[in-house]
Amino acid sequence: MGSAIVVTSGKGGVGKSTVSLGLAAQFAANGERVLLVDCDAGLRSLDRMTGTEEMLVFDIADVVAGRCAPVEAIYPCAMFPGVFLMPAPASGEALVPEHVMLRLVPILKRYFDRVILDSPAGVGRGFRAAAAAADMALIVCNSDPVCIRDAAIVRRLLQELDIVQQRLVINRFNAAYFQSLLPRKEKKKAAEDASFMPLRDLDDVIDQSGVQLIGVVPEDYVLAAAFARGKLPAADIPGRMALSRIAARLNGTAVPLVL
Ligand SMILES: Nc1ncnc2c1ncn2[C@@H]1O[C@H](COP(=O)(O)OP(=O)(O)O)[C@@H](O)[C@H]1O
Ligand SMILES: [Mg+2]
Repeated sequence: MGSAIVVTSGKGGVGKSTVSLGLAAQFAANGERVLLVDCDAGLRSLDRMTGTEEMLVFDIADVVAGRCAPVEAIYPCAMFPGVFLMPAPASGEALVPEHVMLRLVPILKRYFDRVILDSPAGVGRGFRAAAAAADMALIVCNSDPVCIRDAAIVRRLLQELDIVQQRLVINRFNAAYFQSLLPRKEKKKAAEDASFMPLRDLDDVIDQSGVQLIGVVPEDYVLAAAFARGKLPAADIPGRMALSRIAARLNGTAVPLVL
């Protein structure tokens, strides 16, 4: 029996789909069978990001409506060996409701080691449906104040859904931006010592969101550009290395935090 992780955020465009796909690729590279479920009805993106867009016939709503067997709506992602995709419906009207997800996800967990539920933006029905059947949640956050506030709201809503195991992923971390916020004295220190990175602002993100940090993914345009083209970038780029450390921590391995 596998486990299900919902990747969520509240605010849109913070990197939920990027983190979902990056983690899926990493778990699969470790030998797991991974199912990515795109829960963003009407605004799906994982089909494009996994390079499966052209081959899709059925989606999750077709499974629920009985138009196809579950296996017919699960597509292997050739560019991401070991990763399978269950696409979201192209129309937002076809959103699969929460009570159906509560029945479907446990069935999917019988066939996959890991089910990753990529949540839509917002805290509406789509969010609740994506999160309802998850065993744990990753809340993705950038360092801007709106995003941090939204993460705190999502944390409370997840608790109401009984998803108590929650971890924070700070995405698009930009060391230069953080250094630019420093007082002059510390800026000088940072210029002299490349390893000097005061964590105060990062601590603020963690404190204000109220969620325990599991990893920091840097701004990485190589990662973003590869996923935009449905390709898996090299394993040694900073974004993928950060995601592999998060995958290891999710599997209980102690890995130091790297910025
Ligand atoms: N770590 C990152 N570095 C650079 N660009 C990123 C990173 N994470 C996400 N992006 C970019 O940000 C945009 C939104 O990401 P996406 O994963 O689609 O967010 P969401 O699923 O939360 O809407 C995309 O253009 C994506 O390529
Ligand atoms: Mg998305």
